[in-house]
Amino acid sequence: MSYSNILEEIDDNILTITINRPQKLNALNRETIQELHEAFKEAKADDEVKVVIITGSGEKAFVAGADISEFSDFSPKEGKKLAAEGQEKLFNYVANFPKPVIAAVNGFALGGGLELAMAAHFRIASDNAKMGLPEVSLGVIPGYGGTQRLPQLVGKGRAMEMIMTAGMIDANQALQYNLVNHVVALDELQEFAEGIAGKIMKNSSVAIGAAIKAINANYEDGVNGFETEINEFGRSFGTEDFKEGTSAFLNKRKADFPGK
Ligand code: COA
Repeated sequence: MSYSNILEEIDDNILTITINRPQKLNALNRETIQELHEAFKEAKADDEVKVVIITGSGEKAFVAGADISEFSDFSPKEGKKLAAEGQEKLFNYVANFPKPVIAAVNGFALGGGLELAMAAHFRIASDNAKMGLPEVSLGVIPGYGGTQRLPQLVGKGRAMEMIMTAGMIDANQALQYNLVNHVVALDELQEFAEGIAGKIMKNSSVAIGAAIKAINANYEDGVNGFETEINEFGRSFGTEDFKEGTSAFLNKRKADFPGK
């Protein structure tokens, strides 16, 4: 499918989705959120896609937030709908995506941009990246999962301070806060992310999907993560990947997973 606000490139089973509104610092308008939803939905069904990397176009921004021009005159009802639809279509969709999603944060990741990066399964930042949830400076609060995912990643006190001050932290501080896993030079970011994707793809994609589900269960209300783990562990024994992985180990050869 062709899109107006995002670019897609597939290379060696890695799909890179680039948010492409550089003149607006890749701010997420409604149309971009819809296109991202469609792109992820297609990627889910496409067996060629094993890992997704999400990034922003240009050298300045990953995503500088939700598009402020679109909601400045919203009523409380419209505001609630905006958050609910966005969370369902994109942020929770990405968080629960059955294939690994890596955010390659290449500059400003603010508001909805940081929320998108936090919805990804993990984050790598370029050394020029700046991250923050500045919503209270606009008189709103984060609405795309930021009040939940930021404390999960950095701890409650740091999240409180970041959200209350509306301040930005740089890439090294984000690393220290466990908000990102790695910091690399901007021109190495994509290659670095692809390198990690390459390591991931050597493993069973079915088992990885199950691991994502079990890890996420830890953060879901009313779900017992240990039970999810037991169930997913049990289910693994019925997969072709399990047969291949264990027989490859026992026969001292490299596994060639069918992904089933
Ligand atoms: N929504 C809509 N437009 C945005 C945007 C956003 N979140 N962030 C940036 N833009 C637009 C600017 O309005 C500007 O558009 P224009 O050239 O048509 O005037 C363009 O992107 C470039 O941004 P600009 O502010 O000129 O760049 P800068 O280098 O001076 O500042 C930032 C960069 C990121 C500090 C600044 O753009 C900013 O604070 N953005 C908003 C961040 C935010 O509050 N996000 C949370 C939203 S809930």
